[in-house]
Amino acid sequence: MTTLPDGLVLRTARPADLDQIATLLVDRGEEGDDVDHRLVVEDPEAGWEWSAVVVDGDRVVSTATLLEETVRIGSVTVPAGQVELVATHEEYEGRGLSRALMSWAHERSAARGHLLQVMIGIPYYYRLFGYEYAIDIPPARAVVDLPEPLAPLPATGTGGPTDSDPYVLRLPTREDIPALAALQDAAQSEYDVAVPHPEARWRWLFETPASRVWALEREGEVVGSVRLRDDDDGVLLADAAAQDEDAADALLRAVARSRAGERLSVVDRALTVPGRRWAPRLGPASENAEQYYARVPALAPLLDALRPELERRLAQAGVDRAGSEIVLSTFGAHVRIPVADDGSLGPVQTGGRLPWPASVGGAGVAPDQLGGLLLGPHGMHGVVRRRPDVYPGPDVELFEALFPPRTGDVLSYYLPW
Ligand SMILES: CC(C)(COP(=O)(O)OP(=O)(O)OC[C@H]1O[C@@H](n2cnc3c(N)ncnc32)[C@H](O)[C@@H]1OP(=O)(O)O)[C@@H](O)C(=O)NCCC(=O)NCCS
Repeated sequence: MTTLPDGLVLRTARPADLDQIATLLVDRGEEGDDVDHRLVVEDPEAGWEWSAVVVDGDRVVSTATLLEETVRIGSVTVPAGQVELVATHEEYEGRGLSRALMSWAHERSAARGHLLQVMIGIPYYYRLFGYEYAIDIPPARAVVDLPEPLAPLPATGTGGPTDSDPYVLRLPTREDIPALAALQDAAQSEYDVAVPHPEARWRWLFETPASRVWALEREGEVVGSVRLRDDDDGVLLADAAAQDEDAADALLRAVARSRAGERLSVVDRALTVPGRRWAPRLGPASENAEQYYARVPALAPLLDALRPELERRLAQAGVDRAGSEIVLSTFGAHVRIPVADDGSLGPVQTGGRLPWPASVGGAGVAPDQLGGLLLGPHGMHGVVRRRPDVYPGPDVELFEALFPPRTGDVLSYYLPW
């Protein structure tokens, strides 16, 4: 519990706050945010301690919720947090309440051992709290060439299986979660960086009114899935995954058949089976930049966890710096990573201010650029062309090998489109 100015109090949310939080979230956000919040706080794997409020007496005037995530960076998966369901009552805006709740969330995230935070959020705002745009959000593209149905639509709903179409599109149950997660694992395995749905979120996704997960079954096996959201101008197909090209075709066909006459658009997960298969059927993509935010609260623990991945990158690039030390400065502080004679990386050591890392053979990276450098599509080579406060120093080969451009795929509670 923290006392804020004017007698306001920041504290963990409680069951008695549920209705007020719900009202606040819907007033300031979207219809359905109340349900999403309830699903988190009432889930045994999450719970009330993941949500906080600022109260003025008995009145809930601001709220935020932290979700527990993992981020796979190459071969290493690290724990991460995501702040969501952020809202302040209009009468209480501009008094630092969200800022205080972001601090609560980041402290809790650190206490849970999260090594970074990722999130989707309103433009610019979260940069005030150490976030920077990092991972590209793929565009949603209109389906301009619909597949022909294999068989006439049976009289009963979405139909199938028939002799000519062995597929059935149906609502999944909890028993399907392992199969759905396995499909997403396979889809995300093509990406360098991946944020999967934690298991609890699959349960919430089955209940949220904001979107609906569908499973595609073939001969009793789940071979595809998609998350559909109804928009004013049609249906969005997100998080599509399929075991093979035939299943990808069947998935689009089944959605088109069940939503006949509606405009379909697809989130273009380019490296997945449906992404590749559906690409020729899609219209142009918006060229506007859309990105997930990331925040790296402390460089040393994250790099320490990433040592096996960094070793792998150096070996893959054939960069041998045995017996030396890798120096990376965030200017106000720096880290040193000893490279043993066998090329393995020793524990990351932290040091103080190092404004001119190039003078000791090191690289410089502004702290808010770390997320983009580690998770994003530009890598050291690209970021140095965009940011004067990111540079590799004299050993360009080393730092380009350590920080190559990364492809990324994020599965999140909220659909950013
Ligand atoms: C965005 C929102 C949560 C901010 O809440 P708040 O309690 O007024 O925020 P704070 O007073 O803690 O503001 C922190 C800082 O952000 C700034 N800020 C507030 N809203 C901002 C916005 N939309 N964009 C950019 N900066 C903003 C404030 O000026 C303040 O800056 P300062 O610390 O330098 O003075 C609130 O306006 C809201 O509920 N909006 C509607 C719902 C929403 O958009 N939620 C976020 C979904 S991702």
